[in-house]
Amino acid sequence: ASQISTNGVIQEKAESQIAPATNGTEEADLFSDSLISPSVKASLQEVGYTIRPLRRSDYKTGYLDCLRVLTTVGEPSAQAFTERYDFISSQKETYYILVICDSTSRVVGTGAVIVERKFIHNMGLVGHIEDIAVDKNQQGKKLGLRIIQALDHVAENVGCYKCILDCSEANEGFYVKCGFKRAGLEMAHYY
Ligand code: ACO
Repeated sequence: ASQISTNGVIQEKAESQIAPATNGTEEADLFSDSLISPSVKASLQEVGYTIRPLRRSDYKTGYLDCLRVLTTVGEPSAQAFTERYDFISSQKETYYILVICDSTSRVVGTGAVIVERKFIHNMGLVGHIEDIAVDKNQQGKKLGLRIIQALDHVAENVGCYKCILDCSEANEGFYVKCGFKRAGLEMAHYY
């Protein structure tokens, strides 16, 4: 926290006097907001919600709680969250994670598309849709549908030729309503 004054003397400044260096970073979008479908934005706005890219500050806005409807999340510290966020953010044009917020700015829905770069299909790009979650109290209001529509829009606009995802039989109907069709079989090897 030092700076050179007009007479060339290096002055120490209390940290508190300096605008926190992370302020801009905390509120910065993970990816360009212009990739979010204007029509999805408008449909959500009509019913009192907003949709935007994930931010570092979403550690405090209920993002992880929202994901708890999907699976185990654990209790990561702010530092662990920030480190993972910063890694994701450093992978340019790869992770597109978005959130839907209610009128109190609380995260009530989220989803991600991860862009894989292939050699096949003429250096094709494939979108992998992951971690779709809508808060239990907000399910059945078309928020899940809007998340998928927004992710489809991102994937198409960054040049993917398809999006794929894995889901349980119980969620097949939801993805069919979102325009997906069953293709192939998922296999897993857990470590
Ligand atoms: N089976 C059949 N149809 C369904 C289902 C389902 N499980 N869920 C929703 N639908 C239908 C709705 O009835 C609606 O149909 P309509 O247009 O005829 O009215 C349509 O799908 C859209 O539903 P939404 O209201 O947008 O769904 P919602 O906001 O509740 O989100 C979701 C669905 C994401 C599955 C939500 O219930 C959820 O978060 N569940 C828990 C977490 C989860 O399972 N996530 C998906 C994991 S798979 C992955 O992440 C790739």
